[in-house]
Parts: sequence; structure tokens; C-alpha cells
Amino acid sequence: MDILILLTVFQMVSLVGSYEFICPSQAHWNLRAKSMCKPTTNYTCLFDINLQINVYRDRCYRPSIVGPGYKYVFQPNLNRAACSDNRYQPFIFETVGYSDCTFQKSLCNSLGQETYENGDTTVDRKCICNTERGYTFVMNSTNQCYCNPSTEDCSCYLGINPYNKTIELKGRVQCSFWLYIFTISIKQNNGGVFL
Ligand SMILES: *[C@@H]1O[C@H](CO)[C@@H](O)[C@H](O)[C@H]1NC(C)=O
Ligand SMILES: *[C@@H]1O[C@H](CO)[C@@H](O)[C@H](O)[C@H]1NC(C)=O
Ligand SMILES: *[C@@H]1O[C@H](CO)[C@@H](O)[C@H](O)[C@H]1NC(C)=O
Repeated sequence: MDILILLTVFQMVSLVGSYEFICPSQAHWNLRAKSMCKPTTNYTCLFDINLQINVYRDRCYRPSIVGPGYKYVFQPNLNRAACSDNRYQPFIFETVGYSDCTFQKSLCNSLGQETYENGDTTVDRKCICNTERGYTFVMNSTNQCYCNPSTEDCSCYLGINPYNKTIELKGRVQCSFWLYIFTISIKQNNGGVFL
């Protein structure tokens, strides 16, 4: 019986110990900043990759900015780090009010969708409809090769049979056509200049 109680207490303690600190939301950021730092713009809450256990941590530092695609982390002092694979930062990152790259990348996983390219840490993922299974974009995509989910509606629908072939060809052929032209022109350039 005693052992059982001891175990329960131990479990509770370890649960408390593993509680992860989360940076305050935008609404609570100023409250915490006011209670901790002077001036409040010194309040900095970032991922701490110096510790073995990766956690967010807040302290008074000084306001800092870094260019698109990057954020800051504590390591142990402020250090530039690229956004993680599933996030992106298209504009300057600032420590005042932010702890991570601003946007989460779209998943390209709704019905009929596939990833066209993941892109770097400054842009959203690009989606394409699975044309081989008869899917096509609901909206006319500005670019025939892919769709940008942060600026366009990238939903796909299952094409109706008579247009199946046409739809199927439209996207891929145009893409491979430009790729073909591109490859040819590179080959010609190399041929002319280097050989
Ligand atoms: C807070 O910011 C000021 C400048 O805004 C700076 O001089 C000061 O050192 C900062 N304090 C800390 C603890 O970093
Ligand atoms: C797509 O574009 C074509 C020509 O640009 C137009 O005729 C068609 O109505 C458009 N479809 C949609 C759903 O916007
Ligand atoms: C479109 O054609 C593919 C094979 O080319 C087929 O598997 C698919 O079911 C067709 N889609 C529709 C909606 O007919």
C-alpha cells in the first residue's frame, strides 16, 4: 500500500517536472513583459536549444530582428536559426512579441492534393492536384504547374470523365514543356561557352 502511494506521488512530481513552459500568446505577451522586464520590449521568449531538454524560456534581453526565413533561439545567448521544416517567415522576424517563425506551412493533404515542393523557410509549401487520379484545381491556378495555398484556393476536385484526358494533360505537359525548354537552353549555353 505504502509503495503504491509513493509511486503515485512520484508520478505526480514527475508530471509537474515535465510541464513545458509555453511562451505567452499575443494577448498575454504584454502582461508578462510588464511583470518581468523594463523596458517591456526587452522581454524575450524563445526556444532554448542549449538545454538537453528542448524548452521555451523567457528572460530580459534586448529587442532584436533578423531577416526572412530565420528566427532567434537562446544558445545560450541570442543566436540566429532557420525556421523549422513546418514553419516559414516571409518578412523580418522580431523578438518583440514573437517566439517562432510566424506561419505554419500548409499541408497539401486535402482530397486529391499533393505536395509540389516544400520551398525554403521564407515561403509556404506549394500544392498540386493528383492529375493521374483525375483531380484538378477548383480555381484556375495562376501558375499551371502548382498552386500557392497562402494566396490561392488550392482545393482539388475529381474531374468529369470527358475532360479527364484534357485535364490530365494540361498541368503536366505545360510543366514538362517549360522544363524541356529550360534544359535545352542550359545545354546549349554549356555547349557554346565551355566545349
Ligand atoms: C534592456 O534594453 C536596453 C535598451 O533598450 C538595454 O540597454 C539593456 O541592457 C537591456 N536590459 C537587459 C537586461 O538586457
Ligand atoms: C479559367 O480560365 C479560363 C480562361 O482563362 C476561363 O474561361 C474559365 O472560366 C476560368 N475558370 C474558372 C473556374 O475561373
Ligand atoms: C480519369 O482517368 C483515370 C485513368 O486515366 C482513371 O483512373 C480515373 O478514374 C478517371 N477519372 C474520372 C473522374 O473518370
